Amino acid sequence: MENNKQKTFVAIKPDATSRKLIGQIITRFENLGFNLLGLKLMRVSRELAEKHYGEHKGKPFFEDLVAFITSGPIVAMAWEGQNAVEITRKTLGATDPAKANAGTIRGDFGTSIAENIMHASDSPDSAERELNLFFPEGFIV
Ligand code: CMP
Repeated sequence: MENNKQKTFVAIKPDATSRKLIGQIITRFENLGFNLLGLKLMRVSRELAEKHYGEHKGKPFFEDLVAFITSGPIVAMAWEGQNAVEITRKTLGATDPAKANAGTIRGDFGTSIAENIMHASDSPDSAERELNLFFPEGFIV
């Protein structure tokens, strides 16, 4: 079998933590058969938010995006598995919940593109960059 084991970064955003969706979301990732490498409940600083979303700087929604991700606790996670980056993106569904298929996390729980339940890395390179930002201490396992 071809080996394409990847690590990816995902975050459960403040809308989902306040709506008590953490357990249901983690269950979906465990059901994929992925391995959990790191997990923390945290508040994102403005500095970290601006680094994480650096590619969106200058876009009209940038300030709202930073304000939202810093507005409450998030759950930062690192998962590993075969084709984890692509499978995670499919599991989340389209960025805009109005366009996300039913059965995906955003399709099932989301209502707005600005508050869209979760973030996930869009490529293996982004995953490496984002994992280094959110887990600079590395992983225990
Ligand atoms: P996320 O996967 O966290 O990555 C960037 C985020 O920007 C995205 O999810 C959306 O929440 C947000 N975003 C992208 N496009 C728009 C938009 N047109 N208006 C508001 N927010 C957006």
